[in-house]
Amino acid sequence: MRRMKTRAAVLWGLHQDWKIEEIELDPPKSGEVLVRWLAAGLCHSDEHLVTGDMVIPEETRVMFGLPDVFPLIGGHEGCGVVEEIGPGVTTLQPGDHVAASFIPACGRCAFCVTGRTNLCDLGAAVFGPGQIGDGTDRHHIGGKGIAIVAKLGTFAEHGIIHESSAVKVDADLPPAAVALVSCGVTTGAGSAINRAEVKPGHTVVVVGVGGVGINAVQGARMAGARNIVAVDPVEFKQKFALDLGATHATASMEEAQPLVTELTMGRGADSVILTPGVMYGDLLGPALTLTGKGGTCVVTAVAPMTQTNADINLFELAMWQKEVRGVLFGAGNPRFDIPNLLSLYRSGQLKLDELITRTYSLDQLNEGYQDMRDGKNIRGVVVFD
Ligand SMILES: NC(=O)c1ccc[n+]([C@@H]2O[C@H](COP(=O)([O-])OP(=O)(O)OC[C@H]3O[C@@H](n4cnc5c(N)ncnc54)[C@H](O)[C@@H]3O)[C@@H](O)[C@H]2O)c1
Ligand SMILES: [Zn+2]
Ligand SMILES: [Zn+2]
Repeated sequence: MRRMKTRAAVLWGLHQDWKIEEIELDPPKSGEVLVRWLAAGLCHSDEHLVTGDMVIPEETRVMFGLPDVFPLIGGHEGCGVVEEIGPGVTTLQPGDHVAASFIPACGRCAFCVTGRTNLCDLGAAVFGPGQIGDGTDRHHIGGKGIAIVAKLGTFAEHGIIHESSAVKVDADLPPAAVALVSCGVTTGAGSAINRAEVKPGHTVVVVGVGGVGINAVQGARMAGARNIVAVDPVEFKQKFALDLGATHATASMEEAQPLVTELTMGRGADSVILTPGVMYGDLLGPALTLTGKGGTCVVTAVAPMTQTNADINLFELAMWQKEVRGVLFGAGNPRFDIPNLLSLYRSGQLKLDELITRTYSLDQLNEGYQDMRDGKNIRGVVVFD
């Protein structure tokens, strides 16, 4: 391959629209592959780049010698087809279909080899310069290197990614379904199954049933929860959650409180999973009040990087022996979980097509994000021609 031109959605700074730009791609270097993206999901995490919630504060960036955040190519939920492989690539070949993995999986660090691939040490590279392998850029705009979100940049027709960021999937699976599993489904289902450790008979509360939360509902259902209370201010999302396995739905955690008390004969929920669009400190208190004795509160949603306060009752935390747990990428192993969840989709136990409220072209990306902000979508997906 020679240097090629392609199109990508670029964010030039905070609070701006995504701009569809022509960019240039270098050939893949050692360990890298050229991917043609087929579908990309509109996860809320890319929105945190627009609002600044997930942008490293300038002083910290300079202190650690990290590269400029902007401009960047967005998108980390994706399904693509490998078109070319660079030197030394051993796990993929042209024609393979892949799911993007927003945390790379090297397969040999301490976390990977102990079954916690979601915490792979290569994850640190996600905020570093250039490509994972050698820190240099393969994507360029106006003659300058440009960053790619999560070392993926799936809001593009083509891209160069490292083989550790790609999970091979069956080529006959619908690309949009694979794209959803590449982040939101694995994160949501894993929050319930791996992190909340939902067991048959449990009462589970899921707070925020968008693209991630709806899969916490599905995960809790597959794990055998007796009661699944979906909390979301948007009425259509409550109804949708009831169709996908929630047994009850409310508009707020306050409204869920008497219901959970009644459902559990006063014991409280076995687990509460927090998947709102943005995590704020004042959500943790009511979530822990819903959590029963010996219960677990799982924080999946991303908070602004500068958020350091949460108002919780520390007496109850110890005396009721409650637990607060963070979760990254479903606390699992993407190379196992992504194909495994897709096998549950094939067998009909995991619903994916239903989650796609609307598809968009790359040029309609801003419209897609506006629909997400307006609460219209469970998940929007960009589908490439
Ligand atoms: N931990 C991880 O590894 C990981 C991975 C992917 C996404 N995320 C994060 O998960 C969160 C959810 O992502 P998403 O793509 O599903 O977002 P989304 O915008 O599709 O869904 C969020 C839902 O939360 C609802 N909501 C907002 N405030 C609420 C509140 N106070 N109470 C109840 N419901 C509320 C909204 O109506 C919406 O339905 C985001 O913060 C995202 O960045 C985390
Ligand atoms: Zn995501
Ligand atoms: Zn690793």
